[in-house]
Order: sequence, then structure tokens, then C-alpha cells
Amino acid sequence: MYVCLCHGLNDRQVRAAIDEGRAGSAAQVYQHYECKPRCGKCVPFVRDMVNAAKTVGVSCGRCGDACDCK
Ligand code: FES
Repeated sequence: MYVCLCHGLNDRQVRAAIDEGRAGSAAQVYQHYECKPRCGKCVPFVRDMVNAAKTVGVSCGRCGDACDCK
């Protein structure tokens, strides 16, 4: 799925930048792909993807070891 139509970035590319440790913020995702937000419509989505990746591994507080939240 395209995340950024202005630069043709898809969710796999954004996820790869995050998972490879190359992007810890939305700005770093764009830097990794050598671009800057143009219209800016994708920035909230990219930011949400970065933030979601940061919360992985944090327990929901209601579960055991088998919970998907970890
Ligand atoms: S959709 Fe990403 S800058 Fe426009």
C-alpha cells in the first residue's frame, strides 16, 4: 500500500527503514529515502508507523507471555 504518493513510498519501505534501525522518527524515514515531505499528507501515517514500532515489546499489562502485545 502506498503511504506517500508524492514520493511513491509504500508501507513495506517505511517498515523496512524502521525495522533496520535506520529511522527512529518520521523525518528519518524521509531522510533514509532521500526525500522530504512535499504535500505532507503522509506524515501522520509515517509517524504512526514509527510510534507503533516503538511500542512493540511493551506489555499491555493484562496478559501473560502468550499475548500478541509483546
Ligand atoms: S503524500 Fe507524502 S509528501 Fe505528499
